[in-house]
Amino acid sequence: MTAPLIVRGLGKHYGEAPVFAGVDFAVQPGEFVAIVGDSGVGKSTLLNCLAGLDTWDAGRITHGDTDLSTLDDTARALWRRAQVGFVFQAFHVLPHLDVAQNVALPLMLLGQSDAARVQQMLAAVGLEGLGERLPQQLSGGQLQRVAIARALVHRPALLLADEPTGNLDPSTAARVMDLLLAQTRGHGASLVLVTHSDTAAARADRVLRLTSDGIGAG
Ligand SMILES: Nc1ncnc2c1ncn2[C@@H]1O[C@H](COP(=O)(O)OP(=O)(O)OP(=O)(O)O)[C@@H](O)[C@H]1O
Ligand SMILES: [Mg+2]
Repeated sequence: MTAPLIVRGLGKHYGEAPVFAGVDFAVQPGEFVAIVGDSGVGKSTLLNCLAGLDTWDAGRITHGDTDLSTLDDTARALWRRAQVGFVFQAFHVLPHLDVAQNVALPLMLLGQSDAARVQQMLAAVGLEGLGERLPQQLSGGQLQRVAIARALVHRPALLLADEPTGNLDPSTAARVMDLLLAQTRGHGASLVLVTHSDTAAARADRVLRLTSDGIGAG
């Protein structure tokens, strides 16, 4: 189900140290919003909040009719499983599963295993023939593409990507951006992408800059 993502007055701190406050923005179905900002300003933390993987101290996040702050851990996990595709900055590929099993995981958790779809995603990110490799047998850029295939395999309504092209050469990066945008434009997903890349940000509908005071036009 595609739905707007709405963030209102979001604030978070670690102990006494504030990370961000007063973060307000919305992302419509089919829209691509890029988030930029200095290292350490809280971009990854914000994405983790949007995925319900981290908690916050003020404000609310809603995705359609779902108010994330009202969900307990189990309900949040079920929402995430069905609705979210997340490309982690550090990949978080599972080391004991082969490449195809890593990509298949979201479908398996939804009870929708589909080997053909997994092979289609591996080909789409340029990893055809590498499905039986273990993650330790891949390069950094190949691992990043496993993470991207895994984030897209179940056609999520909310795509959250943390520097998804950080380890890729320009032409592979462009291909990966095409894939993320195909899910966004073609299937009405909402894409929130954190990046330091001007090339990636240039393709966004809007660029927002995160600072300690909030978020605004980048
Ligand atoms: N568990 C934690 N306890 C205390 N501080 C933390 C914790 N995790 C992160 N931080 C701090 O929160 C801030 C935001 O970190 P975050 O990883 O979100 O930054 P970022 O904007 O993604 O940076 P980068 O561009 O380098 O990836 C940083 O200053 C970091 O040191
Ligand atoms: Mg980060």
